[in-house]
Amino acid sequence: MSPAPTDSSVQRTLAWTTNQDFPVGKGATVQEFVAVAGDNRYIIDVAPWGEGRFMVDGREIAIVDRAKDARQAFNDLSILAEKYLRGEPIEVGIPRRAPLIPAAKAKLLGGKRGLIVGIANENSIAWGCARAFRALGTDLAVTYLNDKAKKHVDPLAEALEAEIVMPLDVGTPGQMESVFERIGKEWGTLDFLVHSIAFSPKEALQGRVVDVSRDGFLATMDVSCWSFIRMAHLAEPLMTKGGSLFTMTYYGSQRVVSNYNIMGVAKAALESAVRYLAAELGPKGIRVHAISPGPLATRAASGITEFDKLLDKARGKAPARSLVTIDDVGVATAFLAHDAARLITGETLYVDGGYHIVD
Ligand SMILES: NC(=O)c1ccc[n+]([C@@H]2O[C@H](COP(=O)([O-])OP(=O)(O)OC[C@H]3O[C@@H](n4cnc5c(N)ncnc54)[C@H](O)[C@@H]3O)[C@@H](O)[C@H]2O)c1
Repeated sequence: MSPAPTDSSVQRTLAWTTNQDFPVGKGATVQEFVAVAGDNRYIIDVAPWGEGRFMVDGREIAIVDRAKDARQAFNDLSILAEKYLRGEPIEVGIPRRAPLIPAAKAKLLGGKRGLIVGIANENSIAWGCARAFRALGTDLAVTYLNDKAKKHVDPLAEALEAEIVMPLDVGTPGQMESVFERIGKEWGTLDFLVHSIAFSPKEALQGRVVDVSRDGFLATMDVSCWSFIRMAHLAEPLMTKGGSLFTMTYYGSQRVVSNYNIMGVAKAALESAVRYLAAELGPKGIRVHAISPGPLATRAASGITEFDKLLDKARGKAPARSLVTIDDVGVATAFLAHDAARLITGETLYVDGGYHIVD
């Protein structure tokens, strides 16, 4: 176990150790520290941008959101934890709600504008991407599936200060065109696009590939693959200064993953589409990537049978011995949108703790 980030000026009675189930070490997004006090389990989570929370037996006791970095967040919270242990009141003045968007000092993507498709709620991979892109200084347009989804997406769009918020069901004729038309009218150009959507009817997704119906196959391919090709088509004329296009894929495209079924076939097509699009659009400075995250407990994932087993396997087998977070995916995607990545295109980037390299 690695030790907690200590500061000798803080008198501690609690012995903090890192939680092995969380990303640890240099470059990790969120770190978790655990201490046991009698029958109680104390937990401190900290993020590199200076947010953190202190919990006792799963109950949130305090939050910091303006620390300089993870170390300072840990120190502030560990002082509060010591007070809590001694039964002393925890002063007010500690912000109770962490901001939804992390504060990044260097606006490395400042001036860029992008469209994020696929936010359903705070667990969505698209939300992790939107948070990272916004924190790094971009202006965003976001979409929501329909009226039912709008109430979940609206507060997130507000936190992102999204300039354009529109409905988009890729199966509804004309809606994709309307989104890109509005971007053309209001922004004139587009710098990046994140396509983070997939769908397969239950009977297609949960059955054998050998049994899939034509309708099930077409519906899966339509939303999960063709919609990305069409978005690339609509984005191309707006990317007059170049740009980058991203879509989310999964390892089940490369190997047979239990219960991933027809979605694996769709993701294989999607990854191939990424390479063709990258070759066709590269001369215009438009780069195209698939991002391949390890399993994440999202609404889409809940449609996959025995998804918990996939999580357990990923945690145990990945060299990093931890599950990825949506923030890990967001930051990796944002890196590829930076001009520093201008000669990287057509990739499938695994954000999976190294799972895919291990037999
Ligand atoms: N969760 C995982 O383990 C995992 C791993 C690798 C890749 N992915 C991929 O990441 C992407 C995002 O999924 P998620 O896990 O964040 O789940 P999610 O449920 O949060 O997001 C899926 C999104 O797809 C949207 N969608 C579905 N049908 C649509 C349609 N007809 N038109 C427009 N939008 C539609 C939903 O509204 C939702 O916002 C998907 O492509 C998924 O296959 C997920």
